Amino acid sequence: MKISFSAPAMPRTGPLVVCVQSGGELLATAEKIDKATDGALRRAIDASRFKGESGQSLTVMSPSGVGASRIVMMGIGDAERFDDLAAQALGGRAYQTVSGTGDKASVIAIDPVKGSKLKIAEISANAAYGALLGSYRFDKYRTKEKPDAKPSLRNLTIASRDSAAAKNSFGPLKKTADGVFFTRDLVSEPANVIYPITLAQQARTLAKLGIKIQVLDEKQMAKLNMGALLGVAQGSAHKPRLVVMRWDGAPRAKNKAPIAFVGKGVTFDTGGISIKGAAGMEDMKWDMGGSGVVIGLMKALAGRKAKVNAIGVVGLVENMPSSTAQRPGDVVKTMSGQTVEVINTDAEGRLVLADAMWYCQDRFKPHTMIDLATLTGAIIVSLGNENAGMFANDDEICERLTAAGKSVGEPVWRMPLGDAYDKLINSDIADMKNIGGRWGGSITAAQFLQRYVKDGVKWAHLDIAGVTWSSRDTPTVPKGGTAFGVRLLDRLVTDHYES
Ligand code: BES
Ligand code: MN
Ligand code: ZN
Repeated sequence: MKISFSAPAMPRTGPLVVCVQSGGELLATAEKIDKATDGALRRAIDASRFKGESGQSLTVMSPSGVGASRIVMMGIGDAERFDDLAAQALGGRAYQTVSGTGDKASVIAIDPVKGSKLKIAEISANAAYGALLGSYRFDKYRTKEKPDAKPSLRNLTIASRDSAAAKNSFGPLKKTADGVFFTRDLVSEPANVIYPITLAQQARTLAKLGIKIQVLDEKQMAKLNMGALLGVAQGSAHKPRLVVMRWDGAPRAKNKAPIAFVGKGVTFDTGGISIKGAAGMEDMKWDMGGSGVVIGLMKALAGRKAKVNAIGVVGLVENMPSSTAQRPGDVVKTMSGQTVEVINTDAEGRLVLADAMWYCQDRFKPHTMIDLATLTGAIIVSLGNENAGMFANDDEICERLTAAGKSVGEPVWRMPLGDAYDKLINSDIADMKNIGGRWGGSITAAQFLQRYVKDGVKWAHLDIAGVTWSSRDTPTVPKGGTAFGVRLLDRLVTDHYES
């Protein structure tokens, strides 16, 4: 979908979206249309439950006096509570309301909102961003969808005073959306299409944005003693890869220590010899969600030329049962030198991350390292599908992530770490085992990861198992792959790590 910005306009065809505040107060364009239609909008409001509350909408079909094929009134609710996120939701809802009408073009009229802290350019840019995010579809494998069932909308115009400023503010948001879309595509692809080699190829396409890409194969990883990552991979016909992405965007500080992002990229998780049940196993195609977020995030950062030195590292493997697969009880040696007794081959993400995180710190000496992983079912038991679990060795990074999450609508909730939990993964035969007992499964998984964090490195782990895939539509996140984490970390970088 193409999005453009224009001065206030009265379209002669297609749907026109106008805004109404709480209490049925028409904003400027709505007021104008109401006059031109001899009061059609107010009559429609009086005849319905629509009161301009956030989330409400009301359509008036082809009223006489205007050219538009329909007038869609969108509620924006209380002006004081109308923020970036609300403007994005407005855009997303407007898109959903007009995208399937049969029209190819539509206009959203954005007017000043009395009592809101947002400038009109910010409202316009965020409405555009929300409409774009909400327009995402993964339909490449549907060959028989009727044209009538597909969105018809091709062009969306955001009409406002100050359209030049709106267009400017939209610039970086569009780049972030590009990253979000890339992640959603990668996460949505089935595992016969996206496996370590093809996922690495996808990451390589970012080179055209100025990101330096390096891909390690199994021989190079063996040389580096990545026994844990390789142990997970050894049961699959698909060879593992480790992808390193580097964006040097900080001006005059080529050697400035970077911030690093590390992602779990299990392109399919059968559980291995500790095999999973059949029900729902297809979901494990998105067990590469953490790596998908890291790749999409790097795309967003480079796309908007963020003034930051950022490293992305993703460990890519497929976890399969076979005669070459690792067995429960096997002991593997990680790149760090620490040994692990693999009690359960389904606790594979932490094994992959142990080597990817160690490599990342060893080579790039980041001041801060954030890992993302669809790591545990237990985090879904704890937090459901609303918050990602956050574990960290530093309070400041938690505060920053919490604030960034709130402002982009990708909330994180801090979980505890501590010695008493750490003890639960001690092994009788090796330095540690890869699972704790029955309880606190997300915490023992995080304790495992913490054993691969070097002294002095600020570290946060985001368990995104509950938020990577969504079974319901929201205005800006259609059901399916959410790309949860891309907007969060992009905002974190904007707010704290750009020079
Ligand atoms: N990829 C799974 C975690 C997961 C579960 C992600 C559901 C998304 C949805 C992970 O590799 C796993 O299998 N974890 C086990 C750990 C257990 C063996 C200690 C789990 O959560 O059951
Ligand atoms: Mn698993
Ligand atoms: Zn997994």
